[in-house]
Amino acid sequence: MIIAVDGPTASGKGTIAKALARHFRLPHLDTGLLYRAVGYQVSLYNGDPDDPADALAATNFPDELLGHPDLRSEATGGLASRVSVHPAVRQALFERQRSFATQSAGAVLDGRDIGTVIAPDADVKLFVTASVEARAHRRWMEMTRRGESHTLAQIEDDLRRRDERDTARKDAPLVAAPDAIMLDTSDMDKDAAIAAALAIVNDLT
Ligand code: C5P
Repeated sequence: MIIAVDGPTASGKGTIAKALARHFRLPHLDTGLLYRAVGYQVSLYNGDPDDPADALAATNFPDELLGHPDLRSEATGGLASRVSVHPAVRQALFERQRSFATQSAGAVLDGRDIGTVIAPDADVKLFVTASVEARAHRRWMEMTRRGESHTLAQIEDDLRRRDERDTARKDAPLVAAPDAIMLDTSDMDKDAAIAAALAIVNDLT
């Protein structure tokens, strides 16, 4: 079974994907982490994230980098969103994601283009959304817990910019697959969102 979970930043897709993977005992890949690693690697070598050649060179990041705590920061998220517009970068990360999706055990992948590009053949496609306000509030709580100080307005601004870049890009924009089930988590807490996602998957399989 392949489960694709797509949606914007802080929609709850990562939490949902992790919970579904645990429930169905499937391996899980957070594909955003791959783009974050590329963004981080570009900045490490003082490259330009907007330059396709610099960004492509950074796709051969070492695997250990995926565990680096700085990958989760807002700054790295911004860099990830910039390197992810380059088709060559997406192409370079394609095979890795595709082979993860098609391993015999099945898989849960979350990202922006899983249901449309990486696994258009997925058995279940969820598109998780939430209002910008709800997402900004969640992100703010998360940042505050981690000791990163940002105002709610800064985070909201950044989310809007990132949404705009992810939906406007030509190659694999953030868009729901025609056969995706929409799940709006604006008014749900973590447990409610997970329960709603589980109900959808159980219904479809
Ligand atoms: O989901 P996360 O916030 O970790 O993703 C960081 C950035 O990586 C996103 O803003 C998006 O631009 C990019 N991304 C992507 N395709 C994916 C996953 C992430 O373009 N499948």
